[in-house]
Amino acid sequence: MRMTVRQFLPQFLFWLISLIFVHQITKQKCLSDSLAQKEHANEIKWLKKEKMHAGKVYNRETPILFIGGMPRSGTTLMRSMMDAHPDMRCGEETRLVPRLLGMRSNWYKSEKEANRLEEAGVTKDVVDSAVSEFLLEIIVKHGKPAERLCNKDPFTLKSTEYLTGLFPNSRFILMIRDGRASAHSIITREVTISGFDITSYRDVITKWNKAIAGMYDQCKKVGPSYCMPVKYEDLVLHPRPMLEKILKFAGLEWNENVMNHEKHMDDISLSAVEKSTDQVVKPLYTDSLKSWVGYIPEDVMKDLPKIAPMLKTLGYDPLSKDPSYGKPDQEVQDKYDAWLKTQK
Ligand code: A3P
Repeated sequence: MRMTVRQFLPQFLFWLISLIFVHQITKQKCLSDSLAQKEHANEIKWLKKEKMHAGKVYNRETPILFIGGMPRSGTTLMRSMMDAHPDMRCGEETRLVPRLLGMRSNWYKSEKEANRLEEAGVTKDVVDSAVSEFLLEIIVKHGKPAERLCNKDPFTLKSTEYLTGLFPNSRFILMIRDGRASAHSIITREVTISGFDITSYRDVITKWNKAIAGMYDQCKKVGPSYCMPVKYEDLVLHPRPMLEKILKFAGLEWNENVMNHEKHMDDISLSAVEKSTDQVVKPLYTDSLKSWVGYIPEDVMKDLPKIAPMLKTLGYDPLSKDPSYGKPDQEVQDKYDAWLKTQK
């Protein structure tokens, strides 16, 4: 059967166009495959590699224990006890951790600013990933490597709720102390805190109330599996049962070192410029509990239920001029007496 040119030409053109079409498609696929290979060869994926420091992987799943509260509430003592545990490292205050958290929270205080960030593609996810990277780098690298990490910066606990979102395995210890004692310590030791008039008991106690109310509220919001309030008074009077609970909460095995932090000063890094450094090198003492008694002006004492309602919320009697916090456990007393003898 012979074909005429008029019959053959359409069929020929059909097959030719089909061939060119198939060729183009396979060429594009080969090109993208080879680009992917090139990307791989170029190791563009390196950014996704796990981050390591001193042989340990760290990321947002890393469990971090955050210790905070109002300054002068025994936060350095608490972290020194944790630092005495062989698995844990807290280290000095970084100061940057609460500052960055404060900056981030300010970005979202203005709706206009928040909208501008969203419009620019700087979404909350982008901000969270940048903030968590920054925090991790500081927390992981400002001290020696350890099995477990902790961070102590008092005002970090203003951001407890946000931090549980960033670091789902984090835990928080909120140090609580009678606000009159914290205020007395701030004033007599001249501990400057931005926004506090440290010449006025009224001002410091009023601001103590506001700050601790915010941190306590955050602690309650995230709940007891994330945040544990610890009273300074209970810690110094009854350290053993308190520390047993604290270590359990932090997921650490019991270790006797935490009961004798002062004997492990070689392993505990202290800052020469932090105001509690000369105090935490001593064994537990109870002298500071009532050091405020008799120093708070009468008019401020009278107004305490009004200016510091958190005293009552936290279980302190705002009207007592000389409250009793309880008797120290015998082992605390014995150790302190023995230490005093060595000082004579
Ligand atoms: P005072 O200044 O009233 O004595 P922070 O570290 O949060 O700033 O808290 C400081 C408080 O912790 C101080 O309060 C100090 O007494 C107390 N503290 C530090 N080391 C202590 C220790 N070894 N025993 C008991 N309290 C201690």
